[in-house]
Amino acid sequence: MKYTVLSLFPQLLKPWAEEGLLGRAVKQGLISFALRDLRAYSTDRHRSVDDAPYGGGAGMIIQVDIAAKAIAEAKADTPEPAEVILLTPAGEPFTQQIAAELASKQHLVLLCGRYEGFDARLERYVSREISLGDYVLMGGEVAALALIEATARLLPGVLGDAESHAQDSFSTGLLDYPEYTRPPVFEGASVPEVLLSGHHAQIAAWRQEQALRRTLARRPDLLAHAPLSEAQRRLLAKLKD
Ligand code: ADE
Repeated sequence: MKYTVLSLFPQLLKPWAEEGLLGRAVKQGLISFALRDLRAYSTDRHRSVDDAPYGGGAGMIIQVDIAAKAIAEAKADTPEPAEVILLTPAGEPFTQQIAAELASKQHLVLLCGRYEGFDARLERYVSREISLGDYVLMGGEVAALALIEATARLLPGVLGDAESHAQDSFSTGLLDYPEYTRPPVFEGASVPEVLLSGHHAQIAAWRQEQALRRTLARRPDLLAHAPLSEAQRRLLAKLKD
């Protein structure tokens, strides 16, 4: 997977692309990054990329010709088809399902806004608009990073066996069950007995129940779409009583 990020502050993403699991994936050739400065596509000598909105109002708008040129060059960079994504609070809310869809692409071009955003005519050059959530960030870079992390970790080989994502919150449709490690007792709080029992079937059943309990208590909205087994449905009905 190649990630091209078009931003006024591409250097913000550099440490992410070099450290930790993403850095390792780059070194292994599993993913690659092109971090591009939108100013490089400016046509004037001040390297300006924005202008005042037609009709008046506060803030500055990033110009469509500059963004369209940056997108065209990003697409021309590699023969693989590119999915062009605009990060904006006006986009569809980002979810695990969208992450899984995007993880199957070969090239994601991520367009990060600053100021009041882009000229609306940019819509024609973008295949998807995605929001990190119902709040306004200072720019799209943090949203792009979230999208990069959520998709890259789904690619084969990016997580080692020890970091597998099969049991993640959301990939099962439920929140994760709680996990514990040493010490067995901390300030009076004990690790649940069953986890120390060595009884694998009981541990699996306990974890499944905890995942259901947690989801019911914290995110009951997820249960409507979670792919539950018959046994999980029965258990859920009991927990709701
Ligand atoms: N840019 C500013 N706020 C944003 C958000 N919530 N999601 C994606 N991009 C953004």
